Amino acid sequence: MREYPAILDESAALRTIIRTMGGPSQEVISIGGILRGSLPGFRTLDLGSGAGRNSIFLAGIGSRVTAVDASAAHIGAMARLAQGARLDIEAVCGRVEQFQLLHQYDLVLCHGILHFLDRSTALSTVSKLKVNTAQGGIHLITIAKFDSSDDIPRSFVEQGHPNTLTANNLLRAYEDWSCVAHERYVKRDHHPGGGYHLHPIDKLAFQRPGGEHRTLLGEAHLLNDDDRKEVQTFLSTDELILTSKDAALEELGPPDLSFTYNARGQQLSFQGISGQGYELSLLFWSKYAAYFENGLLVGFSTYRSDRFHTFRLSGSEGLG
Ligand SMILES: C[S@@+](CC[C@H](N)C(=O)[O-])C[C@H]1O[C@@H](n2cnc3c(N)ncnc32)[C@H](O)[C@@H]1O
Repeated sequence: MREYPAILDESAALRTIIRTMGGPSQEVISIGGILRGSLPGFRTLDLGSGAGRNSIFLAGIGSRVTAVDASAAHIGAMARLAQGARLDIEAVCGRVEQFQLLHQYDLVLCHGILHFLDRSTALSTVSKLKVNTAQGGIHLITIAKFDSSDDIPRSFVEQGHPNTLTANNLLRAYEDWSCVAHERYVKRDHHPGGGYHLHPIDKLAFQRPGGEHRTLLGEAHLLNDDDRKEVQTFLSTDELILTSKDAALEELGPPDLSFTYNARGQQLSFQGISGQGYELSLLFWSKYAAYFENGLLVGFSTYRSDRFHTFRLSGSEGLG
């Protein structure tokens, strides 16, 4: 087994496990940046916001954010942080099924929430959200549920959220909108309170037709489908211990694709710790993606789809 430079003490060990959902998601950073440029003061609804890693980023770039979560602890923590940082976030503690939609939103986030609802509730929630979305508005949806048609073990498909919606249900529900991105991957995770586990992830982005100068393009990057054994070994569970981007590059050589996202100012990070600035890098070796948060390896995924999307506005080369 290779030697890794970290795990020095208890507090360092806490930071060395595989972890996800630290700062804002990559698609939120890029699409938020685009909307800030084209629609200052755009209105966001963050459903099932958790402690607000995405809401805090979006409010920080000038969005008027409403965040809803059933957890009083999450909502309280976000409200305190927002107040201290003077961010415009309406933080609502409640269930998404009962939340009254009072505005037309430009951006709706459903990150890791719809699969907690049964299928019919999730789909009726989606219908309401669509009606309350401005022309050209965007929905970013991440669910953790694979279709049974996937070639992964049945027990894995069925574990967790058996009665909820699938990506195919969502694709049908949004047939009258544009699907501008759909990625599918298996994410390794190990956060406090749970052992090592896998998340089957579908990440989708839809755009409502209409609206001027706001057509959003997803740029697809085809990834090779090589059997990269050395990458698999490097990223395999028990060996994935805190390491730096430089060390990973030294071990594996240059990645096939590399994307870096920066969020300035106060951001949430792992376990709700807030700090100044957040840099997320995704490095792809064929279909294996490693995530680096502020230069440290924090997780990895195996992509099942052959695309990774970046975003820009049509006719505005270079934005986003
Ligand atoms: C996987 S976390 C995702 C949090 C956040 N969206 C993120 O990406 O970091 C799911 C969140 O949904 C909330 N939640 C689950 N069921 C809910 C419901 N029916 N209504 C409101 N919030 C709910 C939980 O409290 C939790 O914060």
